[in-house]
Amino acid sequence: MKTGFSGGLAIDVHSHVYPGRYVSLLRARDAVPRIVTRDGQDRMLILPGEDADASTSVGRPIGSEYWDGARKLLFMDRHGIAVSVVSPANPWLDFLPGAEAGPVATEINEDMEAFCAAGAGRLYGLGLLPVRDPVAAASELQRIGRLPHLRGAVIGSTGAGKGLDDPALDPVWAAAEREGLMIFVHPHYGLGNEALAGYGHAMPLALGFPFETTAAVARLVLGGAFDRFPGLRLMVAHAGGVLPYLAARLDACVAGDAHSPVRLRHQPSAYLPQMYFDAIGYQAPTLALLISLVGADRIMFGTDHPFFPPHVGNAELDTAEWHSPVAHRAVLRELGSEVEAAILRGNAMTIFGIDRIP
Ligand code: URA
Ligand code: ZN
Repeated sequence: MKTGFSGGLAIDVHSHVYPGRYVSLLRARDAVPRIVTRDGQDRMLILPGEDADASTSVGRPIGSEYWDGARKLLFMDRHGIAVSVVSPANPWLDFLPGAEAGPVATEINEDMEAFCAAGAGRLYGLGLLPVRDPVAAASELQRIGRLPHLRGAVIGSTGAGKGLDDPALDPVWAAAEREGLMIFVHPHYGLGNEALAGYGHAMPLALGFPFETTAAVARLVLGGAFDRFPGLRLMVAHAGGVLPYLAARLDACVAGDAHSPVRLRHQPSAYLPQMYFDAIGYQAPTLALLISLVGADRIMFGTDHPFFPPHVGNAELDTAEWHSPVAHRAVLRELGSEVEAAILRGNAMTIFGIDRIP
């Protein structure tokens, strides 16, 4: 592949796939989330009200850029990405009861492994979990640990239904810690959506997604998961949402609450440097704040591909320039070449155990 990219080749740790059997599952469903075909175009319906909308513009267009490994590699070639750590996109198996989700998760994780194995050393992955049954999710993590290309799992914000501070999730954190696997916390539902309506998808995605991640990880911290599992490896989506920006305020509000039920060994912000973050912050000051709080060695380049495609026809997607990789590279360039190289690729090699760039 071409290497003339400013800053050099990248490793993308935030890149999505809907693996084969997940797509089949969504096509077979008659309730959200599901894939429907309207006017010859496949559309993914994921929001609650979308089932009632019969229009051809409901949901989002979805095509083989979400499941075709060759198209993932074309995107990577186009943008100087040598290696991607791909994860199943939302909403994972949040909608399936635990008992049903266990065997499905195993199949989909096998699909993730096969997807990555076909990538000629350029694809690693994260699996998904039957998270509504934390004991089954812990066993699935153990299985993931034996799949050579998988490095952990992605989860949403709800856990088994009561949030990431639910003590019922302890077997999941324990398994991840024991196996040395990464848990990638990623939004799906959006937080405060009623306050964000009326401007298309912009406000829910720009604000609702990061607020959701922020609340989920704050709950995990305040519930003491990092005290109980100090070796837990957590990667937080979208540069940590607004948690880095609000961490000191969280400290002050916990300390100032005379009746606080929080019983932590440290103030909440002290747990931030134990987490990992993608560099999807869109501006240098955002990343500079994150670096000052957690260190440049915990942050890794990401794109969120294939979300936010350029406004071209599907056939042109593989050759068009995508905004996200270009924008995130530009931000890293402003931070200086040492930090740029670490965040573009060096950190991911260390953190995800990627020993060579093919
Ligand atoms: N990015 C994601 O990962 N998921 C979405 O649903 C939208 C953007
Ligand atoms: Zn994403």
